[in-house]
Amino acid sequence: MLVLGIESSCDETGIALYDSQRGLLAHVLHSQIIMHRDYGGVVPELASRDHIRNALPLLEKILQRVGIERTSIDAIAFTQGPGLAGALLVGASIANALGLALNKPVIGIHHLEGHLLSPLLTQMPPPFPFVALLVSGGHTQLMQVDNIGAYQMLGETLDDAAGEAFDKTARLLGLDYPGGPEVSRLAEFGVPGAVKLPRPMLHSGDLNFSFSGLKTAALMHLSRIGSNVCRQEKANLARGFIDATVDILVAKAIAALNRTGMRRLIVAGGVGANRQLREALSIISDERGFDVYYPDLELCTDNGAMIALVGALRLQRNPAESNTSYAFTVKPNWDLSAIYNRD
Ligand code: KG4
Ligand code: ZN
Repeated sequence: MLVLGIESSCDETGIALYDSQRGLLAHVLHSQIIMHRDYGGVVPELASRDHIRNALPLLEKILQRVGIERTSIDAIAFTQGPGLAGALLVGASIANALGLALNKPVIGIHHLEGHLLSPLLTQMPPPFPFVALLVSGGHTQLMQVDNIGAYQMLGETLDDAAGEAFDKTARLLGLDYPGGPEVSRLAEFGVPGAVKLPRPMLHSGDLNFSFSGLKTAALMHLSRIGSNVCRQEKANLARGFIDATVDILVAKAIAALNRTGMRRLIVAGGVGANRQLREALSIISDERGFDVYYPDLELCTDNGAMIALVGALRLQRNPAESNTSYAFTVKPNWDLSAIYNRD
């Protein structure tokens, strides 16, 4: 089954072709980061318009790259939520218009399920079951993944997401959007231990997170040392922020493995690209004897490949999930729990 995947939930237009026999054939991406950078974050209306400009040219590009006609597509998967309503509507309308024109089934995919299963696209995919640490700009969750569609929430953030904390801290430090990679680079020059930030909820005894206090602690630190902050002081703060964030994520992920008795952890979502987090997990997984899996680096952040993959997996398991009436809605606040164990 050849599935076209369309991702347009936020600031990346992603299109991909996934074949259930041959795997991922190709994926193309247009990032809007430069356009939103001047505003320090994503401007929803600009995002929607840019998806409109780019989605169809990207579709043509991928068909040419793979050397197939539209008519060879067997099904179309699109991100139905969560995300920005206007941006989601672009992907949803293109997917359903194509489905109608080609007389092919269309399926709406939960964006987080895409991230959750994205490590299945690697050369060495993790076998089920596993614990998933989902760390993106909008979500921080620990999930137990027993199989496709069989997910249990173990814990989640009570306020800011980890990526959001990165982005807000970057703004405090005068760094560009998106903040994660920038804070990570700056932290490389920071002196370990020079700035100590709290580790909220580290010992809470549950698997929930809280990151808003960490960002506030960074703000307090900056206001204490005054407005004329040199680069080294900024780097020290970036380092302190990352050390605290990584400590929390690693400790909670290990607690989730212990609680479920599992030995496999997958880390997905934009923050999963973070170098310091990967280094810490690599050391501790060797020490404790568990395996860590990531999507390929380019598939950590938003992309169409994970949407096409989930579309193929879901349609194979249950073809009735597809929409053949081509009437559609988007679900900007779609909770992942709505799709738990729905098979
Ligand atoms: O998964 P994603 O692309 O979009 C959402 O679904 O939210 O994640 C974007 C988030 C942003 O907050 C960005 O700052 C963060 O992932 N991010 C990183 C890194 N690359 C992206 N955070 C830390 N280190 C990185 N290398
Ligand atoms: Zn995402």
